[in-house]
Amino acid sequence: MTRGKPPSNVDLVVEGKVFLGESLEWACVAIEGDEVVGITSPSHAPSSEQKITYGDGHIILPGMVDIHVHMREPGLSYKEDWETGSKAALRGGVTVVCDMPNNVPPIKSRESLMRKIEIAEGKSLVDFGLYIGYTGELEKCSDLCVGVKLYPEDLAEPGLIDFLREAARLGKLVVIHPEDPELIRDGGTNYCDARPPESEISAVRKLLELGSGARLHFTHVSTSGAIMEILAKKAQLREFISFDVTPHHMLLNSNLYSTELFKIAKVNPPLRSEDDRKAVYGVVRGMLADAVVTDHAPHSLGEKLSEDFSEVPPGFPALEIALHLLLREILEGRLGLKTLNLYSSRPAEILGIRRGRISMGYKADLVIVKIGVERVVRGEDFVSKAKYTPFEGWRLATETRAVYLRGRKMLEDGEYLAERGGELICCRSS
Ligand code: DOR
Ligand code: ZN
Repeated sequence: MTRGKPPSNVDLVVEGKVFLGESLEWACVAIEGDEVVGITSPSHAPSSEQKITYGDGHIILPGMVDIHVHMREPGLSYKEDWETGSKAALRGGVTVVCDMPNNVPPIKSRESLMRKIEIAEGKSLVDFGLYIGYTGELEKCSDLCVGVKLYPEDLAEPGLIDFLREAARLGKLVVIHPEDPELIRDGGTNYCDARPPESEISAVRKLLELGSGARLHFTHVSTSGAIMEILAKKAQLREFISFDVTPHHMLLNSNLYSTELFKIAKVNPPLRSEDDRKAVYGVVRGMLADAVVTDHAPHSLGEKLSEDFSEVPPGFPALEIALHLLLREILEGRLGLKTLNLYSSRPAEILGIRRGRISMGYKADLVIVKIGVERVVRGEDFVSKAKYTPFEGWRLATETRAVYLRGRKMLEDGEYLAERGGELICCRSS
């Protein structure tokens, strides 16, 4: 089963049950510097002063790649910062995050982007890509960002088409939060009605009809209607359109708005009907979605429990549990093992980076997962500053035992082994 011919001696060999994109195989991963230089059977493994075997009860996965998170710094570090956010990522087996630009002030210029890079380089324990906001200095930021993020309010801007054409010219990914502001009626605690499925479908349609030539990626798609629109267009324009979904839209529905978790579960787009939830789950099971993302969106608990529901900010943390929620579905037989590619190699391909795969020439990002544990999700145990979750009380059978970022062990048995070390990722620009 030898893949690649590693040198006879390497820096590190990690042996165990390795996920190689299709299935789990008992193998040795040879690492030299920050890269995987070979994958061999144990009898063909190169020699190394450092050899670690993770025995039965463990699986070795690639580092996950989460292309939609909010680390909140600069500007909102009382909600999260690069240290706590990246520690949450490591606990969730995530080694690359892409951070959204809705900081305070929003990241729309080269200067603010450089400032954010400086902060993240000083504090992050995982690698990071950054998006800029609409009307950002796109050309000036092009070499430093992985793409642009459009929020619902940007979708009504008259200058949108020119902006999209500029993104197309520069080969930049455009990530869209599809909710049509004209169809949002905020108010009331039935949040799914306040931001109805039609608003998502309408936003998707409008963007697809613009024909800008830009590389469009719809994020946290939550309705069967929007999924159908996207899949129909993808059938003609596969290279130009992609979409992702979240674990919360896969696994939770709007019934949560009638429980005591209604404030914690407030999120944009909202949790949907059971039919929509099934549709979202279905595109993951059928590998029709291009990625799974968390939309890790921490807020302070005080904000989330605001008296007035309309003041409760949308979103909740998820980086620590997303991989383990997927593994729960996989281990219980509802999803295939290959689903993991939607949270690793596939999003990496969308960005054009060589990550999220245990393969020759790829960065040595490895996640060692212990299986057969019994634990219960408790928000109070989170390392994120946001210590709550709509998944409170869910049972999990896996936990992250260790994480290697580019060959360097960053986390082991709950201990962080570095104070920083995350780097800016560069991406394809065409
Ligand atoms: O629920 C959400 N929270 N949706 C968004 O689009 C923004 C995010 C946030 O930044 O809190
Ligand atoms: Zn978001």
